[in-house]
Amino acid sequence: MANTILVGAQWGDEGKGKIIDVLTEQAEIVVRTQGGNNAGHTVFVGLKKYVLHLIPSGILRPRKLCIIGNGVVVDPIGLVSEITGLRKLGIKVDENLMISEQAHVVFPYHRELDEQRELRKGKNKIGTTKRGIGPAYGDKAARVGMRMIDLIHPERFEVLLKARIKENNEVLKALGAKPLSFKKVYESYRDAADVLRPFVANTVVRLHEATVSGVNVLFEGAQGTFLDIDHGTYPFVTSSNTTSGGACTGSGVPPNRMDRVVAVMKAYTTRVGEGPLPSESAEIADMLHAMGREFGATTGRARRCGWFDAVATGHATMVNGIDDLAITNVDGLDTLETIKVCVAYRCGGKTLNYVPNDIELFAQCEPVYVEFPGWKTPTHEIREWKKLPVRARNYLKAISDLTGAKLRIASVGPAREQTMFL
Ligand code: GDP
Ligand code: IMO
Ligand code: MG
Repeated sequence: MANTILVGAQWGDEGKGKIIDVLTEQAEIVVRTQGGNNAGHTVFVGLKKYVLHLIPSGILRPRKLCIIGNGVVVDPIGLVSEITGLRKLGIKVDENLMISEQAHVVFPYHRELDEQRELRKGKNKIGTTKRGIGPAYGDKAARVGMRMIDLIHPERFEVLLKARIKENNEVLKALGAKPLSFKKVYESYRDAADVLRPFVANTVVRLHEATVSGVNVLFEGAQGTFLDIDHGTYPFVTSSNTTSGGACTGSGVPPNRMDRVVAVMKAYTTRVGEGPLPSESAEIADMLHAMGREFGATTGRARRCGWFDAVATGHATMVNGIDDLAITNVDGLDTLETIKVCVAYRCGGKTLNYVPNDIELFAQCEPVYVEFPGWKTPTHEIREWKKLPVRARNYLKAISDLTGAKLRIASVGPAREQTMFL
């Protein structure tokens, strides 16, 4: 399989978890490189459903080493509960999980600040997952964060935490929020540290040894291209680099060790949270929600839905260097008479074939659509590309060509076997 970076080509929730689980079969190591427990990756193994937030989706296959890389922000309480939950479901984690010493830690004041900032933004809110992600990355950049290596050294941790709680309580009080009890936070984090200590390691050295010896590594992206802190629809983004470059900085594996970039995209578009979405459509949202689909895996919020936006995915190819595409949720379009695809934007009297950086301009963009005939046939039982209706194949080929990358995988359901390789 070679070293593969997997990213989301849209606004997150593209079905990365499912495709990672499928690709993990050929990998020996799976690494998460950015984001935190804002992510929710759904994987079905048989009839059992798993939702992974911090632990790489590769954990569901035995004997695969799963690494939480240096670029991730870790909520230790959340991670302990994820580990406990997996153990209860019979998944082995003890020998398969490693957490970077350098990964930054998310604290209750990060979550509180996330909440307070959203409240103050009112109708301009980002619609965050309220997991404290923005404030945690903010502390990392401001060089006042704490890392996993600090968390697992109780004496050092106590001193650092005291200072951080003191400063953050002043901020929280000024914002009219409740200050935090040092004792409570310290005790709960010390207990979590006791559980996590055996997993904490120098993952950069481990990955270096692995890549030098030719082991196949899969880099598991979270969120999606347009939630990237640099390349997304700022400020309606998350706080990490969700694009392919983030896999290098977030793991310590250099670019010249990477072999290919696989992007996952839905056959249509979804977004959860605020911010522009030019191809948003009530017609497709109502249809998908009525089928019980497109509710968030982390927050349960109904996802906003729209037609496939090829301007956006073409842009994603530019910033990620996408080689191969995996298109998921093809079955979501099975009942439609006609299917629209956004191929350009009209705004300010101009036609654009790229995503403008000016968020106010982007918010005014109107989609220019081309229409494709629907296949009006259930696809969820189809297992071979050649057996897909010709109209479905034409549609998938067309959206791949517009995106500018090679179609390799088509998915017609959440299960492993509902996957076709081209
Ligand atoms: P992720 O965050 O990118 O891993 O995606 P999520 O798990 O948040 O959301 C994707 C949803 O689509 C999940 O409920 C998956 O089980 C589901 N899914 C993935 N691929 C397919 C598919 O081809 N068809 C259907 N019906 N569901 C899919
Ligand atoms: P996965 O990995 C979809 C969105 C939030 C919000 C914005 C900022 O499952 O694809 P944050 O809590 O990160 O500060 O929120 O980003 N968001 C996601 N949307 N999928 C995700 O992850 C997301 N993680 C964050 O809804 O709009
Ligand atoms: Mg998700």
